[in-house]
Amino acid sequence: MKLKGTSVAVLALVLVCLDVEVFPIGSLFTRLALKNCDVDLVVNVNDDSEVSERARVLLLRSRARYRRVARGGSRAGARPTLVLHFTHIASGRKCDLSFSSQTSVENSLLLTYYLKLDERIKPLISLVKVWINHLDNSKHFRSHILCLLVIFYLEQKHIVPPPIVLQENLSDNYRNGWDTNFNMIPFKSNNTESLYQLLGGFFKYYSIFNFRDNVLAVRNGKTYHRSVFRNISTIPEEFSDYKDYLKRPDSTPLNLDKDLCIQDAFGQNYNIADTVPSDLAADFLSHL
Ligand SMILES: *[C@@H]1O[C@H](CO)[C@@H](O)[C@H](O)[C@H]1NC(C)=O
Ligand SMILES: *[C@@H]1O[C@H](CO)[C@@H](O)[C@H](O)[C@H]1NC(C)=O
Ligand SMILES: *[C@@H]1O[C@H](CO)[C@@H](O)[C@H](O)[C@H]1NC(C)=O
Repeated sequence: MKLKGTSVAVLALVLVCLDVEVFPIGSLFTRLALKNCDVDLVVNVNDDSEVSERARVLLLRSRARYRRVARGGSRAGARPTLVLHFTHIASGRKCDLSFSSQTSVENSLLLTYYLKLDERIKPLISLVKVWINHLDNSKHFRSHILCLLVIFYLEQKHIVPPPIVLQENLSDNYRNGWDTNFNMIPFKSNNTESLYQLLGGFFKYYSIFNFRDNVLAVRNGKTYHRSVFRNISTIPEEFSDYKDYLKRPDSTPLNLDKDLCIQDAFGQNYNIADTVPSDLAADFLSHL
């Protein structure tokens, strides 16, 4: 099979021909992209090795259009996620194609739903993004982390309903062990603050937030002392799936030993900030 065309969308199509599901995720998908941002594509797979090898071969064969196909990207303390990094020559866009068993696609859908709920959310995320881009090494502070920090703050402000509320009255839909079903319910917030009040509130909220001791649980919009998650008998019932998961012999618990601990909206064992290096976390906290 030969890669033709000039856009990443074509690549996505080719991967569909590989008989896998491929989704754009992250900033481009949610239209939150700043100029020249990377393109994130994710292939939903259960066994990533064979599919990623076929994709790598395809990309290498088409090196006139895509250069530097490098492997990499693994998540510490968990099953590694294979990522192919490459640059699309015509547009100069850097692309990351990951072969993931994570819940990134569902997270993107959730964010898209939130963005539609309230017109203040998109500019708020963009403003926070501009701020974070000024920190050294900010590329390790992935867009997903930043979006969920904003969403968690908006949950406190009753501007968005937490995912657990969106899952009421729904039959379960488990993906990789986590219930990812949610209802896009209409939701009208009673909050009337302006965008700039919210931006100020964001910084105020996190400047006094105790990141060192706490876990931010986006799933229900609550904060827990890290020790609560260290002991299976103290984990709240809202995380019963996580408790069941921990009983499995091959489970990988939420990484509670990082500077920042932000639980993914769906993947309850996933600290989305587990790849933020300590110096960047310190820089982030000192600028709040
Ligand atoms: C779930 O059902 C209850 C009772 O019928 C209702 O009050 C509630 O609004 C429903 N929640 C959602 C998210 O649809
Ligand atoms: C907005 O609604 C939430 C519950 O949905 C309530 O707890 C909060 O006090 C309300 N805020 C205002 C300003 O009315
Ligand atoms: C876990 O919590 C239970 C109930 O609070 C307590 O009895 C038990 O000693 C704790 N286990 C550990 C290892 O701290």
